[in-house]
Amino acid sequence: MDASGVAWVTGASRGIGRAIALDLANAGFDVIAAMRNPADGADLAAQVGDGGGSISVQRIDMNDPDTFVVPDGLRVLVNNAGIEREYLPVEHVDLADWRAVFETNLFGLVELTGRAIPVMRAGGGGVVCNITSSSILAAIPFYSVYRASKAAVSAFGESLRCEVAPFGIRVIEIMPGPIDTDMLAGSDRMPEAAAYDGYREMAEASYAGRKAVDHMTTPAADAAALVTASILDDQAPLKHGCDDLSVGLLDAWSSAPIALVGSPYDGQGM
Ligand SMILES: NC(=O)c1ccc[n+]([C@@H]2O[C@H](COP(=O)([O-])OP(=O)(O)OC[C@H]3O[C@@H](n4cnc5c(N)ncnc54)[C@H](OP(=O)(O)O)[C@@H]3O)[C@@H](O)[C@H]2O)c1
Repeated sequence: MDASGVAWVTGASRGIGRAIALDLANAGFDVIAAMRNPADGADLAAQVGDGGGSISVQRIDMNDPDTFVVPDGLRVLVNNAGIEREYLPVEHVDLADWRAVFETNLFGLVELTGRAIPVMRAGGGGVVCNITSSSILAAIPFYSVYRASKAAVSAFGESLRCEVAPFGIRVIEIMPGPIDTDMLAGSDRMPEAAAYDGYREMAEASYAGRKAVDHMTTPAADAAALVTASILDDQAPLKHGCDDLSVGLLDAWSSAPIALVGSPYDGQGM
């Protein structure tokens, strides 16, 4: 697609969403940067270069569908807003936490996308870009709530991609690895699971695994450039990485016969 018309990015106050909003505007889109506190985006418009695009800020709360105002002429929707919670064993997670994460990461996204589709259809097509996570490609303990919410978005996107292709709407999924944002910084801690009987050793191993990818941390602006490229590529596959780790994980997942490297089935041709 050409880089023109309206693009809508949720969770654009900071992190990956902010970087995507800027990159799409610099590519030529008129970006609606949607965020909970519009003051967080007050400086965005001034940061857009001479690429022909623009940024305006809109208030949105993914937990409040009354704030979902679909922009006229929408061509690109980037479902980016997301949260995570404490890293706990399943037996110690409150159902309220499951509901809170799914409310933001899945249900808000589903409602917003459902409202965006008719506008895109009326305009002759567009792109829906869901930001999930490369963590759903690997079995990581204590991330069940977050990973399940992102896996649900992933499955949602697969079905949606089939449904809306006849209307000229492409659905793609970006599965980030470690991107330099507040969320990644917040994940740099011993999992809360360590405090629970029988889980300390696994929590320490999990944290060591988290630290082991520190050197692969990618600037949000670099990830955003790959997101924009995927949005613009009419031949793009469904799933994309946007950093070295996620690209590698996705390659391994795509080429593994049944499961990821390291599983008992790997390399057995099943
Ligand atoms: N960073 C990574 O390494 C990484 C890896 C894999 C996947 N991801 C995914 O990438 C996306 C962006 O992550 P990030 O690292 O940029 O996270 P971040 O720095 O924590 O930013 C999260 C964004 O989501 C917004 N948000 C949260 N709850 C919201 C709500 N109810 N309504 C509207 N906006 C809400 C935040 O708004 P406020 O400023 O108002 O809080 C913020 O703009 C998320 O979906 C995340 O799961 C990130």
